[in-house]
Amino acid sequence: MNLQSGWQSEFEIARACLEWQVEMGVDEAICDAPIDRYALDPAPAPKILAKVAAKTAAPAIAADPVAEAESLAAAAHDLDALAAALSSYPHCELKLGARNLVFSDGRAGARVMIVGEAPGREEDLRGRPFVGEAGQLLDRMFKAIGMARDHPDMARALYITNILPWRPPQNRDPSLEERAMMRPFVLRHIELAAPDILVLMGRISAATLLGTSDGITKIRGQWREVAGRPALPMLHPAYLLRNLVAKREAWADLLNLQARLRTNP
Ligand code: URA
Repeated sequence: MNLQSGWQSEFEIARACLEWQVEMGVDEAICDAPIDRYALDPAPAPKILAKVAAKTAAPAIAADPVAEAESLAAAAHDLDALAAALSSYPHCELKLGARNLVFSDGRAGARVMIVGEAPGREEDLRGRPFVGEAGQLLDRMFKAIGMARDHPDMARALYITNILPWRPPQNRDPSLEERAMMRPFVLRHIELAAPDILVLMGRISAATLLGTSDGITKIRGQWREVAGRPALPMLHPAYLLRNLVAKREAWADLLNLQARLRTNP
């Protein structure tokens, strides 16, 4: 068979059919089988309407966890309100695995505010920052320069918090997202506690509040500024427990802090 002439004749047949339909008044291609539209439900089912609406509606604006943290923190006018705002904040999943919100310890209004990293096991159990082994070393370090979290003299008292109020699982490093969400709360915490001087305890605290990627061993002991206040990055006591020789640097930083407090009474 000649293929070309076969194809032509099929084409001719199809065209003739189409022309016949047009002549008969057909003006719309529908389907092979007829549909009895009188037998159909006249109103579209609500489920179908909902689906159509969902497809055509403007997409919902996704929550911005950092913007929400900023507005919740700004609305808190005292430390109790800030703690309540943190516990109602829905975007940080660490909360789900933590036993307690670890907000602060020591005396609000103290001249020195220490900002650590995140609660560990002991802190999570007791709901207070720096109460485990590293916390005990921290207490000894500050005692050596005459300061304590519960010192009756406000000039020698300490106020202590962390970047994260919830313990990360297995004490892993907090992620960048978790730190970014908590940063507005920490900045508001600093404003409300109004210390003269901040101590940024360890690399996570320094990196989160200074926005630097410089390592803590490089920037420790160098005065910086956070929220308009002098801030001193220091080596974390947990690091000092593993690196005994680094205690020398920590001691130099404590003397540096003491000198600054003395020159600006
Ligand atoms: N390490 C921290 O940074 N904070 C704590 O509260 C305990 C250990």
